[in-house]
Amino acid sequence: MAEESEVRERLKTLREAIELHNYRYYVLDNPLIPDAEYDRLFRELIELEEKHPELAIPDSPTRRVGGKVLDAFEPVKHAVPMLSIRTETDDDGAALFDARVRRELGIDAEIEYACELKFDGLAINLRYEQGILVQAATRGDGEVGEDVTQNVRTIHAIPLHLANCPGGVLEVRGEVYMGRRDFERYNARQREKGLPTLVNPRNGAAGSIRQLDPQLAAKRPLSFFAYGLGEVRGWALPKTHSGVLDALASMGIPVSDVREVTRGAEGLKAFHRRVAKLRDSLPFDIDGVVYKVNSLALQDELGFLTREPRWAVAHKYPAEEQMTLLNDIEVQVGRTGKLTPVAKLEPVFVGGTTVSNATLHNLFELRRKGVRIGDKVIVRRAGDVIPEVAGRVRDDSAAYRHNFLMPKHCPVCGSKVVREKGSIEHRCTGGLFCAAQRKQALLHFASRRAMDIDGLGEKLVDQLVDTGVVRTPADLYKLKQEDLACLDRMGEKSAQNLLSAIESSKNRALSRFIFSLGIRHVGESTAKDLARHFGSLEALKAASSVEEKLIEVPDIGPVVAHSIINFFNEHHNIEVINELLKEGVRPDAGAIEKGAASRIEGKTFVLTGTLSRFTRDEAKEMIEALGGKVTGSVSTKTDFVVVGENPGSKHDKALALGVNVLDEAEFAQLVSEGV
Ligand code: IVH
Repeated sequence: MAEESEVRERLKTLREAIELHNYRYYVLDNPLIPDAEYDRLFRELIELEEKHPELAIPDSPTRRVGGKVLDAFEPVKHAVPMLSIRTETDDDGAALFDARVRRELGIDAEIEYACELKFDGLAINLRYEQGILVQAATRGDGEVGEDVTQNVRTIHAIPLHLANCPGGVLEVRGEVYMGRRDFERYNARQREKGLPTLVNPRNGAAGSIRQLDPQLAAKRPLSFFAYGLGEVRGWALPKTHSGVLDALASMGIPVSDVREVTRGAEGLKAFHRRVAKLRDSLPFDIDGVVYKVNSLALQDELGFLTREPRWAVAHKYPAEEQMTLLNDIEVQVGRTGKLTPVAKLEPVFVGGTTVSNATLHNLFELRRKGVRIGDKVIVRRAGDVIPEVAGRVRDDSAAYRHNFLMPKHCPVCGSKVVREKGSIEHRCTGGLFCAAQRKQALLHFASRRAMDIDGLGEKLVDQLVDTGVVRTPADLYKLKQEDLACLDRMGEKSAQNLLSAIESSKNRALSRFIFSLGIRHVGESTAKDLARHFGSLEALKAASSVEEKLIEVPDIGPVVAHSIINFFNEHHNIEVINELLKEGVRPDAGAIEKGAASRIEGKTFVLTGTLSRFTRDEAKEMIEALGGKVTGSVSTKTDFVVVGENPGSKHDKALALGVNVLDEAEFAQLVSEGV
C-alpha cells in the first residue's frame, strides 16, 4: 500500500485538477480536457476517497451531492439585507436614471456606469468564510431568507473554494438560473414520458433550489452569475463595481462577459440597444439590463430610498411571456402524420414579435395544463424557439370554456387518426394520400439536404398540391412551363429557374435520394450509411424486405430496419420510386464522392467546442481545401455547425435556427468523402 503522504498528495492533486476542470467547463465554457479524461480523474478520486475514508473532506468535489432530504429549510437572517431594484420600462429609462443620479449628486459632468444583464432567475447569497462556501441562502423577504446550501452545492459553476481568496468573510450575490437549452431538453424529456413540464426556466431554477431532496435538485441543471456583494470582512474593496466583478471572476466565480463600463445616458442607451440585439441568441433568459453607478464611493453617497438603492436601476425589455385569450385550437398535420394542437391566439406582443399561433405540443400536455378554448393563457416566446402556450391563468370569469378533443379523422384528408400503444402522439393514417403529409413530404424531398431543389418553397408546394398538378415527388419532374404559368406570382423567369433546378436535382447522390424519401427514422446519417453499405438503389431495394440484411449496416437496429421494410412494402412508395427513375432521376452510388465534395464546396461552416482528432486550424484547412468557408458566428446562412466536446452557445444557436449540426465523426466522414 502506498505511503499515506503519497495518498494525501495524490488526493490534493486530483481535487485541485477537478476543481480547475469544473471551472474551465462550467464557468469559462472552455474545457482543457475531454469529458472522458475528466470522468477518469473523478472516478480515481472517488475510489481513493473510498479506500481512505479517514482522508475524505467535506469540501471535496465528490461531495457536491450528498446531503439528506430535509423537512424544511432553516431561516437565515441576512447580515446585509438583500434589496430590490427600481425598474424602468420606457425607452427613456436610461435618460431618466442618469438625470436622477446627477441631480442627487449635484454633478454636471458625465457619470461612469457599470452596465450588466438582468438575469431572470432566483437571487442567492453565497457566504464564503476563509474562501470556503459555508452557506447559501435565498432572498426571502430581503431580511430573512432560507438556507439552501445543500442544493446550491450541486451547482457545478459555483466554486466550493475560492481561488486567490483574501480570507475573512465574503458574501457574493447573484442569480441562479437554468439555461434555455437545459430547459428545452428537460421539458422535451418530460413530454416524451408524459410527465409535467416546467413553465419557464425561472420556475425551473426556483423549483430546484427549493427542492427538499438535494438528489432531485442535482438532476436539474442550474448555473449562476454574480452581480454584487453582501457582507464583506477582511477584504479591501476595489474602488468600482466593475472592479468588484473583475475580482470575483478572478476568484473563480462566474461573472457574465456581457457587461460594459460606459459614461452618460448615451452610453447606457447604447448598451440597452446592443443587448436587445443579442437577447435572442443568449443561451439564458434575461428580462432587461441593469445600470449601476460604477464608483462605490458615489454609490455610498447616493444611498437608498426605502428598499431600493438610488445608484442602480433595471431597464426592462418586452416580456417573453404574456397573457392572452385562446380563441381556438387547430390541428396541424406534419410530414409523418403527427397531429399537433396549435393555439389560435388573440394576437399578443411577446418577446419582441406579435404572436397569434403557438404550439400546444400534444394532447397529453394540453390536458395536463388544463387548457381549454376560451381560457386566458400564458404565451412564451424566448430566443429563437417556437412560441408555446406555457400554461393557463385560472380565471373563473371566462365567458365560455370548451374542451378540445383530438379529431377522430384527419382534418386535411379525412383518414382515420390513431394513437399507437404507448405513444403520446396522434397520427393521421392517410400517408401520402393526405395533402398535408404530401406537402410536407414534397418540401422534405426538395429541401437543401435532400434533393436540394432551389425555389420550391411552402407557398409553391401549397399551390401545386391544392391545384392537383403535383401529387408525388415524381410529378415534379413532369412539370412544364405552362403548368407553372398559371400559378400565383410565377413569372416566366422564375418558372424557368425552377424547372432547371428540378432538372439539375436528377443526379444527386444516392444518400441524398434515400434521405429525400422521408422514410421514418431514416435521417441524413442513416441514409448515408445505407448508401455506403448497399452501393445502389437496386441493392437496397433487394435487401429491403430482409431484416438481417438491414441490421448488418452499422448503426441500424430493428426499429429502423422495420421502418425501412414497411416503407418498401407499400406499393405506392415503390411506384413513386419507379416513376422517379422513369423521369430520369439517377441516384448513383458513384455520386457519393461527387456529392460529398459538392457538399463542402461553397458551404459555410462554423466550428465550436474541442475537436479531438484535429485542431481547429486543421479542420479549417480541410474545409477550405474542399472549397468551403469557415466563419465565426452562426446565422441562417450557415450550412454546417461542427460540434466538438463541450460546445458553447454556437451549438444552441445552431439548434435554434435549425442549422445542420455535425459531430466530429460525421464531420470526419464528410471530409473523407470529399477527398
Ligand atoms: S442588483 C442592491 N444586478 O433582480 C441591488 N440584480 O433587484 C440589488 N437581478 O431579485 C440587485 N440581475 O436577483 C442586480 N445584474 C443584476 C441582476 C439583478 C438580476 C435580480 C435580483 C433581484 C431582482 C431585483
